[in-house]
Amino acid sequence: MSPSTVNKIASSPVFDIRSDETKGFAKAPIEDELAGLQAVYNEKTLPNVLLYDAKGLQLFEKITYTNDYYLTGLEMDLLGEHADEMAEWIKDGAALVELGAGALRKTAILLDAIERQGKRITFYALDLDHSELTRTLAELEGRYRHITLCGLWGTYDDGRAWLASTNEEQRVLLWLGSSIGNLSRQEAKDFLHSFGRALRPGIDKFIVAMDSKYNAVSSMTRAYNDSEGVTASFALNLLDAFNAKVGFKALPPSSFCYSPFFNQAQGRNEAYLRARHGVRFEVNGIAVEVRDEELIRFAYSHKYDNAERDLLWRAAEANVEQEWLHSPQSGRARYSISLLSFRD
Ligand SMILES: C[S@@+](CC[C@H](N)C(=O)[O-])C[C@H]1O[C@@H](n2cnc3c(N)ncnc32)[C@H](O)[C@@H]1O
Repeated sequence: MSPSTVNKIASSPVFDIRSDETKGFAKAPIEDELAGLQAVYNEKTLPNVLLYDAKGLQLFEKITYTNDYYLTGLEMDLLGEHADEMAEWIKDGAALVELGAGALRKTAILLDAIERQGKRITFYALDLDHSELTRTLAELEGRYRHITLCGLWGTYDDGRAWLASTNEEQRVLLWLGSSIGNLSRQEAKDFLHSFGRALRPGIDKFIVAMDSKYNAVSSMTRAYNDSEGVTASFALNLLDAFNAKVGFKALPPSSFCYSPFFNQAQGRNEAYLRARHGVRFEVNGIAVEVRDEELIRFAYSHKYDNAERDLLWRAAEANVEQEWLHSPQSGRARYSISLLSFRD
């Protein structure tokens, strides 16, 4: 039976794994956001998790369909070509946990391969928004006979804590979309290392997709400022998410424009909101002033060359079991998917 002809089943459960801190109980409301906005001129930041409310996730999905966002196409090519080999690493009875799962369109390529191999696994999609987890999992319902679908509602940190409670024979983490690039290089090392500590040496695996520095600078620049303006809407939606948390229009979207910058020296895109004019507000007794033309940074997207990728794995004490490269002939592959294990 082909995956699409299996009968529809009841909706997939979404487990709330959020800690008190994630739920916002352990901190003053918007503490992190206000801390970032109190920095000096042009050093202000807003956390990139604000991008990913339900509307932001839908806008991000739309970005992945734009011609300019080449990352999705490269990743789909790699998955399309190598999903069967990737699936070979996943054992019958495994838990496959996707970090920051998003729309699941690419994930389905790997799940289809696992299904073809007849393995009974549980797939856990972890992400920040409950309604979007329900919606995206519903798209896959009825598609698999062997794979159980679940959602995990929480952050990466919540996911790492939750891993200790799973008793499946093998845990395989999946991190697609070059989301690793959103972390600084040091944070990426710490992230991998800390997840590595939560995985069992020899058995568990971590599959990481990563964009490469070898793409043309013009392509990388366009990818973060698509001609259809979807990325700009995605960026400005962050202000709606912030204002919703504050409870009033503290940072009106009409007072800002999206202003990305590709920093070649650092090998990363830097995403900013630029104030069209000065904005002031006060909340919880804290005054915030954003000056005319001031930049607020909210995201990085780092790119790695071959040597930087190897250095990262080494620093994180990860072993590369297998690596799938997009257009590797030149030695300057445009995208990679690496299957890692961790040392004792
Ligand atoms: C760049 S998008 C990638 C989405 C999807 N994996 C893809 O490849 O298209 C980043 C994803 O990570 C999620 N995310 C970002 N920060 C997160 C965090 N701290 N904890 C959990 N998920 C997070 C976002 O909600 C979003 O779905």
